Amino acid sequence: MIPPRSTFPKDFVFGTATSAYQIEGHGFGGAGSTHWDTFAATPGNVANAEDGRVACDHYHRWPEDLDLVAGAGFDAYRFSTSWARVLPEGRGTPNPEGLDFYDRLVDGLLARGLRPAVTLYHWELPSPLADLGGWQNRDVAERFAEFAEVVMSRIGDRVWSVATINEPWCVAWLSHFLGQHAPGLRDIRATARAMHHVLLAHGRATEAMRALGVGNIGAVFNMEYAAPADDSPEAASAATRYDAIYNRFFLSGVFHCTYPPEVLDGLAPHMPAGWQDDMGVIGAPLDWVGLNYYTRKLLAPAPGPWPALQEVPGPLPKTDMGWEIYPEGLGFFLRRTAREYTGDLPIYVTENGMAWPDRPVDGHIDDAARIDYIGRHLAQVAAAAADGVPVAGYFVWSLLDNYEWALGYDKRFGLVHVDFETLERTPKASWHALARALGGAGAR
Ligand code: FCB
Repeated sequence: MIPPRSTFPKDFVFGTATSAYQIEGHGFGGAGSTHWDTFAATPGNVANAEDGRVACDHYHRWPEDLDLVAGAGFDAYRFSTSWARVLPEGRGTPNPEGLDFYDRLVDGLLARGLRPAVTLYHWELPSPLADLGGWQNRDVAERFAEFAEVVMSRIGDRVWSVATINEPWCVAWLSHFLGQHAPGLRDIRATARAMHHVLLAHGRATEAMRALGVGNIGAVFNMEYAAPADDSPEAASAATRYDAIYNRFFLSGVFHCTYPPEVLDGLAPHMPAGWQDDMGVIGAPLDWVGLNYYTRKLLAPAPGPWPALQEVPGPLPKTDMGWEIYPEGLGFFLRRTAREYTGDLPIYVTENGMAWPDRPVDGHIDDAARIDYIGRHLAQVAAAAADGVPVAGYFVWSLLDNYEWALGYDKRFGLVHVDFETLERTPKASWHALARALGGAGAR
C-alpha cells in the first residue's frame, strides 16, 4: 500500500522523474549527435542495438505526458535538458528549437500547477566533446558551466529547482571503469579523471548559476547499500571499498572537500595533476541534495588489482533488473547522509522505482509488485522523517516506460505503460494507486 500524504511532513513534495534521452526522441528538433547514439550504434553495447532516436516521442507528446504527471496528483516533475539538443556542437551557437522546447515544457508544467525540477545533465554527452576526451578532459568542466548558463538564462526564472549532474558514479565509474555505459571504456586512468572532472563540472556549473542569480541548486547522487557477502574480514573490507567508491567518494568531495582514502588507494596515481586545488570549487555550497536509491549489493573479495572485489548474487526477491529489493537501505542512506554529510540541508529522494515485465491484460496493467515496492520505500522515508531527518520529497522513477540505456526498451520502469509500436500510453495500477494516495484526479 502507498502511504497517504498525511503520513509525511507538511510541504513534503511528491514527484516523478524522467530524463531527456530516455523519453524525448533525440532524432527530432535539430539535436546533435551524442555518445549514447554512437555507443548504441556499436554492436554488442545495447540490447537489440536500440537507441533514443524516437524513444517515447515525448518531444511531440509532452502535453499528454504532463497531463499524466498532474493526473497522478504529483506536485513536481523532474526532467533533464539534453546538452546536444541545446548545443549541438557541445558549445557555441544554441539550437533555437532546443531552447524553445524546454521553454514550452516549463510553461506547460507551470500551467498545470507542477513544479519544474530540472537536471542539466543526464548522460548524453555531445559527440564533439566526446571527441576531445569527454569526461577525461578537464575542459569539459568549463563547457558544462557554459551549457548551464545557456539553459538557465532561458528557463532559470521559472524552474523550481536545478540539479547539475545526475549520478556522478554512473557518469564516471560505470562508464569508464566497468564499460557498461557510454563511452564504454575500461581504463583506470580514464576513470580517475572522469571521477574528478564530473565533480569539477558540477562545481563550476554551480558557481556559474549562482553568478546568474539562480537559487535552489542541488546535486543528485546514486547510492547502493554495500553488504559483505559473508562474515569474513575480507568481505567486510570489500564492502567498505565498494561503499567508498560508489557512495562516499562523491558526497565526501562535495560536502567535505576530500576524497576517501579507500578510493585514493587505487586512484591516486591516475588522478589529474593538481586535483587537490579544485576541491574548493567542488565544495561550492548547495541548497539541497538528491539521493537516487534502488538496491543493495553483496560484496566479496576477488583476485587481481584494486579494487579486488566482486558482486555475488543475494537471496532477496529481485526486480526485472535482477536488483534485490531492500527498502531498509534507503532509510540507512537518508540517515547517514544527514548525519555525516549534509546536516540540515533538505534531502530529496530524486529517484526510486522498479522494473517489472508489465503486460496489458484487457487494457489493464496490474503492477502490484511496483505498488508494494514504492509503498515499502515510502515507509522508510516516512520513518526517517519522523526521526528528524530533513527529507523533503520523493520522486518515483519513472513516469513512462522508456529507454533503459544498455538494456534498451526491455526494462519497464514506468507508472505509465508505453507500447513502443504505437507509442500509446496506458496508466498502470501503480499510477492509479499513487493518485489515490496523493489526491490526484486519476484515483481509482
Ligand atoms: C538510474 C538512472 C535512470 C534509470 C534508472 C533505472 O541510475 O538515473 O536514468 O536508468 O537508474
